Amino acid sequence: MWGAYMMNKKEEARVYYSPEEEKQFGVRTARATNVTAESIREAFDFCRDKKIELLIARCNTMDIQAAQGLEKEGCLLSDTLIHYVRNMIKTPIPPIPDKISIRPVREGEEKIVQEIAADAFRDYGGHYQADRRLSHVNSSEIYSSWALNSCLNRDHTHDVLIAEYRGEIVGFITVRLNSPREGEGPLAGVITSMGKRSLVLSALSIGAMNWFRSRGASRCVASLLLTNRVMQKIMSRIGFEPDRKSTRLNSSHTDISRMPSSA
Ligand SMILES: CC(C)(COP(=O)(O)OP(=O)(O)OC[C@H]1O[C@@H](n2cnc3c(N)ncnc32)[C@H](O)[C@@H]1OP(=O)(O)O)[C@@H](O)C(=O)NCCC(=O)NCCS
Repeated sequence: MWGAYMMNKKEEARVYYSPEEEKQFGVRTARATNVTAESIREAFDFCRDKKIELLIARCNTMDIQAAQGLEKEGCLLSDTLIHYVRNMIKTPIPPIPDKISIRPVREGEEKIVQEIAADAFRDYGGHYQADRRLSHVNSSEIYSSWALNSCLNRDHTHDVLIAEYRGEIVGFITVRLNSPREGEGPLAGVITSMGKRSLVLSALSIGAMNWFRSRGASRCVASLLLTNRVMQKIMSRIGFEPDRKSTRLNSSHTDISRMPSSA
């Protein structure tokens, strides 16, 4: 049942139209993943064919030819991710810190999660802020609608966990299985009024690992912005390590609509 694992479906398709992002950015947007020097032309041909205005392309940082090839096409470097990995069998999962409890979100709590995301991501410096053409994009809105949609689309391979402290919901993490053996928590945040926010984030990540294990996964991964030093610190403390293979990917944006059609 690979169809249930959203990421793998997208990873197979190297370049694809993204209607969700078109709605958010107001321009016809496509994404290209795992771009190599050889596949750049294919990605740009797709964009011209489908009348794409903005391409968000990712390539492996080790592949300097791919990165330079994207630059030649007018791409603008917007972020770099560092990939972390953790084996949950070889390195036992630590206990959840005292006084914090982790459980799946319940029906009726979706709005609370949405508000926590809006608060936690208010000044988040992701790749939208790095591109002046996307300066109108409100990252708080993007991440809060992502959090809300995650609450509304839960199943055996996707869920949202929340952290409770003294009876109040103070944080959330979205969790998913990328494959039967691999889990990932792509989005997490803690309310800004909370003290010890990094401790809550650790508790959420440990809760996520328990969720992955209960579904049979043995490893988990995390893609972190290279600039998000706090998250790298938190993940290292709970046993994550930089991935040996394809550790970093660049995200490059290009304005396809301004390129000459023969380019
Ligand atoms: C991730 C998050 C919970 C961390 O909370 P925080 O209050 O910023 O964390 P803290 O200030 O407690 O910092 C944790 C540690 O990182 C250190 N730190 C903070 N900023 C740092 C920086 N720029 N470079 C290196 N270390 C840093 C702190 O000194 C602290 O270390 P210590 O425990 O040794 O004192 C919070 O920032 C958040 O919700 N962010 C928005 C969402 C997000 O980034 N989600 C993750 C990606 S989806």
